[in-house]
This record gives sequence, structure tokens and C-alpha cells, in this order.
Amino acid sequence: MTLQDRVVLVTGGARRVGRAIALALAERSAHVVISYRSSAADARRAVRELGRHGGRPSAVRADLTRPEQVRRLFEAIRRRYGRLDVLVNSASQFERAPFSTLTPQQWDRTLAANLTGPFLCALYAARLMQRQGTGKIINLADWAGVRPYKDHLPYIVSKAGVLGLTRALAKELAPAIQVMAVAPGPVMPPPQMSKAARARVARRVPLRRWGSPQDIANTVAFLVEGTDFMTGSCVFVDGGQLIA
Ligand SMILES: NC(=O)c1ccc[n+]([C@@H]2O[C@H](COP(=O)([O-])OP(=O)(O)OC[C@H]3O[C@@H](n4cnc5c(N)ncnc54)[C@H](OP(=O)(O)O)[C@@H]3O)[C@@H](O)[C@H]2O)c1
Repeated sequence: MTLQDRVVLVTGGARRVGRAIALALAERSAHVVISYRSSAADARRAVRELGRHGGRPSAVRADLTRPEQVRRLFEAIRRRYGRLDVLVNSASQFERAPFSTLTPQQWDRTLAANLTGPFLCALYAARLMQRQGTGKIINLADWAGVRPYKDHLPYIVSKAGVLGLTRALAKELAPAIQVMAVAPGPVMPPPQMSKAARARVARRVPLRRWGSPQDIANTVAFLVEGTDFMTGSCVFVDGGQLIA
């Protein structure tokens, strides 16, 4: 699938990795919609930047844990563009949750944002894509969904769930719609992470450094444009974390 004139939704596309993905797809002449929850100013800035590449970008506010808001997001896309070619499920919540203080609320919050959100988006996206007879869904997972680290149990289980969601959706939606995942390693530290902690992370990566949001954006662009003969697969862009 070429990206020229395709309609793409990147959830969580106002900031950080989602923003890099949105820009990479706009640079390849797609019309990019970003969804945001709380980052309205960042979303406005991102839309201005996306617009420099000549498409018809827009931003829609939606809490992706709320089915009615997700339904309205896709209805807005249908009304404005009449179609949807690619969904990139990037929005996510990353929360430290040591087991000794873990609460059921933390579990519910994280699973709702990281697993129910992508499921709801895929549900409504698939309805638009099935009408067209074509489409791609790309889910942002995490290498830790396969090799867990400590103190983040809900996040890690949610990302393992995203890998399961990718495979099961790929089966449900074949042959018209291809569903894939990208599992990043460390590519962009949380804002509060200290320099020392960042260096510790880099030392554990076989390639001995952090990757970048651009590594993920390029991979998403490849999954759209590079091949149409892939579904149910996950690409690990993790500096070798899986073999560490
Ligand atoms: N950063 C990394 O090194 C890394 C490593 C492994 C995997 N990943 C995965 O790659 C993706 C992007 O990473 P990131 O670090 O850019 O993510 P992030 O900063 O943790 O989150 C991206 C956006 O998700 C949105 N979001 C969270 N909960 C939401 C909800 N309930 N409804 C709607 N939007 C919601 C937020 O939007 P608002 O700001 O508008 O509220 C946030 O800006 C994520 O899926 C992440 O798990 C990242």
C-alpha cells in the first residue's frame, strides 16, 4: 500500500513517539488524523506541522477507554474523509506499579488504556476498512510484553495482550485487512527519568544505546508501504533486548 493520499489515524499522535509516526506518514503524503486526550496544545502544533507536507491533517479529542468517544472519533473521520486506510494504535499509559503497592485501580486504568483502547479503535476502524475492502492496523506493543521486567505488571500484561490482539485480529480480518505490531525497545525515556537511569537502561541494551522515535516511525512506514504480504506479525525494534 502506498501512503500517498491515504487516510491514516495515529492515536496519541500529538506528542513523543506517536507524533514522530504521524510526521513520517505525512511526509509520505498521507492525510493524517491524530487523536489526543489531554494534549490539546501539542495536538494543534502537530497539526500545523503535519499540514506543511500538503495533506489534510486534523486532530480529534478522544479518551480511548470510552466506547462512545471512540465511536465519535471514527464518525468524525468518516464524515471528514469518507474512508480510513491505516490505523496506528500508539496511545498508551506507562505507569510504574511495584507489586507491593499495586492496586486493582492501577490494573484497570492501564488495561483500559493499553488494551481496551486499541481493541475499540480496531473495531470501529475495521468497519470502515471492510466497506472499502482494504486497510492496515498497526499496534504499538513493547518488547517487555514478551520478556517482562519488574514493577510494571499491568503495563507488561497489557502489552502482551496487544500481541495477542494483533494475532487474533489478523485472523478475524484477513484477507482484506492486515494487522501487525511494532514492539519498541527503549526509544524515548519518560520525561521524569534521570540521566543515570537512562544510562543504566542503555547499558542493558545489546546495541548499548537508546533507539529513537524515528526508528519506530520508519518501521511503521515500512509496514504500510514495504509489503502487503504480512499479517499477524510483530517487528521488534529493540536494539536486541530480546536476546539480551
Ligand atoms: N517510549 C518508549 O521508549 C517506548 C518503549 C516501548 C514501547 N513503547 C510504546 O510505543 C507507543 C508510544 O510511546 P510513547 O512513549 O510516545 O507513549 P506515551 O508518551 O506513554 O503515551 C502517548 C499518548 O497516549 C495518550 N493516551 C494515554 N492514555 C490515553 C487514553 N485513555 N485515551 C487517549 N489517549 C491516551 C496520551 O495522550 P495525551 O497526552 O493527549 O493525554 C499520550 O500522550 C506506546 O504504545 C508505548 O507503549 C514506547
